[in-house]
Amino acid sequence: MIIMRKEEKNDIERIKYIYDKAAINPITYYLDAFFGMTTQNSLYRKIAIANLDLKENNVVLDLACGTGYNFKIIEKYLKNTGKLIGIDISAQSLMAAKKRAKKHGWTNIELVNIDFTKYEPNQPINAILTTLALEIIPDYKTAIDKIHELLLPKGRFSMIGMKLNNKVLFKPLNIFLEKISRSVYIDYNRDILKYIKSKFGKIDFFKEFNSGYFYILTVRKR
Ligand SMILES: C[S@@+](CC[C@H](N)C(=O)[O-])C[C@H]1O[C@@H](n2cnc3c(N)ncnc32)[C@H](O)[C@@H]1O
Repeated sequence: MIIMRKEEKNDIERIKYIYDKAAINPITYYLDAFFGMTTQNSLYRKIAIANLDLKENNVVLDLACGTGYNFKIIEKYLKNTGKLIGIDISAQSLMAAKKRAKKHGWTNIELVNIDFTKYEPNQPINAILTTLALEIIPDYKTAIDKIHELLLPKGRFSMIGMKLNNKVLFKPLNIFLEKISRSVYIDYNRDILKYIKSKFGKIDFFKEFNSGYFYILTVRKR
């Protein structure tokens, strides 16, 4: 058995370790979702998913699906038809996602334990969703390139992103938030919007929520 010292692990391995731990002790997930207004019944998840314009028999990819917080809303559209592909590097998160699928009797779910930037699907993809992840995935530009590449023409991509609040009053809170977020590999200093716009040409939908600390964004492959 090879035991890696902390400083020898790369970012992906550290992220895996953190989210494996979080999935085993889901209280972190619950608190995070509660304060972030991103529970599995969250209005904002509903908007992000409604924007995907899903139909029965569609193939939908939930990138960095974690424990499957988006599944219930996606299945309202798919009605257990087509395919919901959940991808995550955290095996423990996928175990929890598998349990969730079993509990609800969803049989159209395929879970893949892989770094998304290395994923090679064997079918065309109608829509891609990613929530609370593009600020964490180390090679986020390659991930955005891949999202664009995998989508069918006119396919939609929706995301929930995390950001800092630009208002002066919130600046002290930003410093605190950046500090604690770094420990779970959240990087607020990425040009995600700009890069998505450069790939997709136009942002079709953008809405901030939770005092401007989160946003929903939707684009369509032209
Ligand atoms: C904050 S959690 C969000 C989980 C879920 N999307 C949600 O909304 O509850 C971030 C997730 O990104 C996953 N992740 C990070 N980098 C990844 C990568 N390169 N490929 C796949 N998953 C990744 C982590 O394992 C973790 O489950």
